[in-house]
Amino acid sequence: MTDNIAVDDLSEDMARDELTRLSDLLNKANKAYHGDDSPIMTDAEFDFLKKRNLEIELKFPQYKKPDSPTEKIGSLPSEKFSKIKHSKKMFSLANAFENSDLYDFDEQVRRFLNLGHSDPLEYTVEPKIDGLSLSLRYEKGELAFAVTRGDGTTGENVTANALKIKDIPINLPIQTEILEVRGEVYMEHKDFEILNNYQESLGRKVFANPRNAAAGSLRQLDAAITAERPLKFLAYAWGELTEPLDTTQFGAIQRLKNLGFKTNSHTKLCQNIDEALTHYEELSKIRSELGYDIDGIVYKVDSLDLQSRLGHRSTTPRWAIAHKFPAEYSWTKLMAIDIQVGRTGALSPVARLSPVTVGGVVVSNATLHNQDYIAARDNYGKEIRSGKDIRVNDWVEVYRAGDVIPKISDVDITRRLSDSIAYRFPSNCPECGSAVVRDEGDAVIRCAAGINCPAQAIEKLKHFVARKAFDIEGLGARQIELFFADEILPIKEPVDIFTLEFRDQNNFTKLKDRHGFGKKSAENLFDAIKEKKTIEFSRFLFSLGIRHVGENVSKLLARHFLTWSEFISSISLAQNRESQEYFDLVAIDGIGTIVVNSLLSAFEIGKERNSIEKLVEHLDILDEIPPDIDDNVLSGKTLVFTGTLEQMSRSEAKSLAENFGAKVSGSVSTKTDLVIAGPGAGSKIRKAEELGVKTLDETEWLSLIGK
Ligand code: IVH
Repeated sequence: MTDNIAVDDLSEDMARDELTRLSDLLNKANKAYHGDDSPIMTDAEFDFLKKRNLEIELKFPQYKKPDSPTEKIGSLPSEKFSKIKHSKKMFSLANAFENSDLYDFDEQVRRFLNLGHSDPLEYTVEPKIDGLSLSLRYEKGELAFAVTRGDGTTGENVTANALKIKDIPINLPIQTEILEVRGEVYMEHKDFEILNNYQESLGRKVFANPRNAAAGSLRQLDAAITAERPLKFLAYAWGELTEPLDTTQFGAIQRLKNLGFKTNSHTKLCQNIDEALTHYEELSKIRSELGYDIDGIVYKVDSLDLQSRLGHRSTTPRWAIAHKFPAEYSWTKLMAIDIQVGRTGALSPVARLSPVTVGGVVVSNATLHNQDYIAARDNYGKEIRSGKDIRVNDWVEVYRAGDVIPKISDVDITRRLSDSIAYRFPSNCPECGSAVVRDEGDAVIRCAAGINCPAQAIEKLKHFVARKAFDIEGLGARQIELFFADEILPIKEPVDIFTLEFRDQNNFTKLKDRHGFGKKSAENLFDAIKEKKTIEFSRFLFSLGIRHVGENVSKLLARHFLTWSEFISSISLAQNRESQEYFDLVAIDGIGTIVVNSLLSAFEIGKERNSIEKLVEHLDILDEIPPDIDDNVLSGKTLVFTGTLEQMSRSEAKSLAENFGAKVSGSVSTKTDLVIAGPGAGSKIRKAEELGVKTLDETEWLSLIGK
């Protein structure tokens, strides 16, 4: 085998063999990745092998393969499922690991609902099945669509496949106008084993675990294959309904069972959080006997009325939480520490491990967070791991909890080599050589070169095309890397994506004639780009990948400014930190000085701003539409709450106001439309009076919102 030999030590023969092995492997990985259901390696492994392949090619150009993975842009265009927008968003769940997290959850729910400690608060508690969620839409009692979760807003239409799953009824005994049932598609252990034996006997791909097998089986373009696969479905939630199922979670699940769905028999109604924790302990004990994988237990507030009062955060409901099972641990050797440079310039150390199985998954990388973490200090400078630092060649204990990136929990100092030396964090960016900086109070070391650093530029581009950003079909992270390095048709910054077709027309060598492309796939790519020229304001802002400006902040900013031009002119004026625009910006609820400083620096006159301006010329940025623009009095208004509210918590009041399309701000200014003041209100109410802003007391507020 040549795979463990350093590039510099390879003989010519070995180099030739190694290039053959790598091109086979990388081409296979590319296909598996785009086939989607089962990547055969992690992104980091793929990057590592591709880099190795390139290094060998540079040293032995005579052996570069005609189908070298370096030359490949894009993968074969694959047929895809059609997309369907969920009529109600599919949420995921917040995670908890310790019992104390569950007490905190109970406390938060009570606070939100203004409930005291002794007030009753029941929970429905059930296993969290490790499969993939599916939404089934019944119209007049007949299965109309089955849609995967996708990004929560839009999923894939897998109706033909769902029809092949025995647990999914095609007709219901009632003819309700609309009834959307949601649940988990999964595979039992025994069926998983049979399937893998069968696959192996035919020399086909075996699946890494039942979850992958279920995903791969459901997302088959040929529904006949899905029919052969033993998939199961358990119902645990619902989406759009024209008639309520019940008044409680437990009752609604019972109702789904009566309608012919399979539901989990380990679902229990618990009187309080202590009883819920006891059920968690009981289920942990029988976990291995269930016959299918579960990765935790879900706790849901039982009353549906309380659920609707609690509502949602951006991606998770406030009324439910997943209590994950504890992490799993294994010991292995740390082979190397690599530094990756991210989108915001952060230098992130990554541990390259001798591969080891941790809780059923092979792990070969772990995060090392930052310089201090390696040196055994936390973000506050306090000692961690009893002061044991992490060094190359150390034996380390690796753990995984849930889907998170593996981490290192311990170091075995007794096995440390006598000549080992402490790790030295680089003082220059390993990608571009620029100086690195560490801001005060920040644990992260950053490359200061911004988009002049190729690693940052490329990571920004990957973020730009990511699913939650521009989401351009056929232009994923891998293609970005290839186009970034491409000499004929390079993509170096976002605007280059939108000039791609024009530049291609003026090139002598056309994309369609290049390796990995054909007429159809080149056309598809250009069409996919054109299709995304119109974009919502908040999505656009998020796409820019500005530090601290994530999905939520982008949404808040878009809701506040409504149009891109209003936003950009305010930001320009806010560069003057004495200006009203600056104060207005920091006063937006949920936006602090950290976000504002980051925004101001991204939009300072300079290379990054130029890059954004060039890009904007090619786009049509849609104005933000305030939510629920019914003719209600609150829509589009800016509210400030002050003093103590007696009928509901501040959080519930805020969430209600937002549901009515209002914005909630923390300070009173000329832009404030309404101040709701409870007892104890002070300076804010005086300011409101000064500015002539209307004020309401709590009773008036409640009648305004019809409570
Ligand atoms: S409830 C609005 N219940 O876990 C709440 N989810 O990490 C929607 N899952 O996307 C989810 N078992 O795929 C719920 N008993 C259960 C579940 C469950 C598995 C999955 C589901 C969800 C993911 C969130």
